[in-house]
Amino acid sequence: MINVDKIRADFPILKREVHGKPLVYFDNAATSQTPQVVIDAIADYYSNYNSNIHRGVHTLSQEATDKYEEARIKIQHHFNAKEAYEIILTSGTTHSINMVASGFASLIQKGDEIIVSALEHHSNIVPWQMLCEKTGAILKVIPMLENGALDMEVYHNLVNEKTKLVFCNHVSNALGTINPIEEIIEKAHTVNAAVLIDGAQATPHIKPDVQALNVDFYVASAHKLCGPTGVGLLYGKQEWLEKLPPYQGGGEMIATVSFEKTTYAGLPHKFEAGTPNICGGIAFGAALDYMNAVGLDEIAAYEAELLAYGTKELLKIEGLKIFGNTSEKTAVISFNVGEIHPYDIGAILDKLGIAVRTGHHCAQPIMDFYKIPGTVRASFSFYNTKEEIDVLVNGLKRAVMMLS
Ligand code: ALA
Repeated sequence: MINVDKIRADFPILKREVHGKPLVYFDNAATSQTPQVVIDAIADYYSNYNSNIHRGVHTLSQEATDKYEEARIKIQHHFNAKEAYEIILTSGTTHSINMVASGFASLIQKGDEIIVSALEHHSNIVPWQMLCEKTGAILKVIPMLENGALDMEVYHNLVNEKTKLVFCNHVSNALGTINPIEEIIEKAHTVNAAVLIDGAQATPHIKPDVQALNVDFYVASAHKLCGPTGVGLLYGKQEWLEKLPPYQGGGEMIATVSFEKTTYAGLPHKFEAGTPNICGGIAFGAALDYMNAVGLDEIAAYEAELLAYGTKELLKIEGLKIFGNTSEKTAVISFNVGEIHPYDIGAILDKLGIAVRTGHHCAQPIMDFYKIPGTVRASFSFYNTKEEIDVLVNGLKRAVMMLS
């Protein structure tokens, strides 16, 4: 069971005030907060062994290399990848998606079909549109239903022999819907299409087992998982990573270079040109250690309580409508109150020390579906409390009174 008081003591930022009020941080789907152990890992790197990796015989370089590769193994174990070299360290989910989309340009042909879901973040729409423009492939969309679920009946009909790739988020960032990725993967594989799952919003709550899922690519960002920004992962099955060409040329990703011919390094280095975010990778490992010590199952159970409580209390406010009402969802409540613009609500909540995200959440097609400009999104984490939800509800009542 989560001991929330003990957990909150691990996060220095939770002690701060905003506009003279205690911070209530409900923007966890945008980025999570950072525990002291991760801050310490960052400080330790720069204080004690800051150095480039895979390049030096000197002690500092070897220490940094060892820690960086240890972090890769921690990530491998967390996601249950078969091999450590199937974990490519990237700058984050968007970078990982673009690496795969760019690589598929040489594997896709005119008339091939690519399927994405209507619930995608722009980062999982735009790279595929660019790929279609480049190759003449056709983009198909799994539509969504009023409750924020995907229309799986349509999906089953969309998949055919021309389908080469399927992309879907594990959890919708705008609504919190948990998508039936097992079913999506299984169906795509009946026609040998590759599947990429965007786990940016799922991984703070769910521990994915990439081998059990039999997924081809799985991507995520450290900063949603109590880690630093600027680092994330691309998991790819070895056979796919070997088929894809490198994304960038440069140092680190080569075996030999001459002006006549260059040969590429093996996995994972083929995809890791240039000096990586060394400290970020090491801190990502420390963040996973922290999350695992708290326990992903305990986190999910506690956040489900926060979601149920928050939903019940928020729905008491007259005119409040929640978007995304599937039974399978993470602790995200996306809502509007009457015709009040979400931005106005967000600005007043900020004055009360409450951080929420407002707008289209980089998921404009979802907002178009509901015919709204955006929503107010409160996203909870395992360090939030029911008392903080009460602060949000009271703040919201004040905001509504002022804006009505
Ligand atoms: N994708 C992040 C969010 O949903 C930034 O807020």
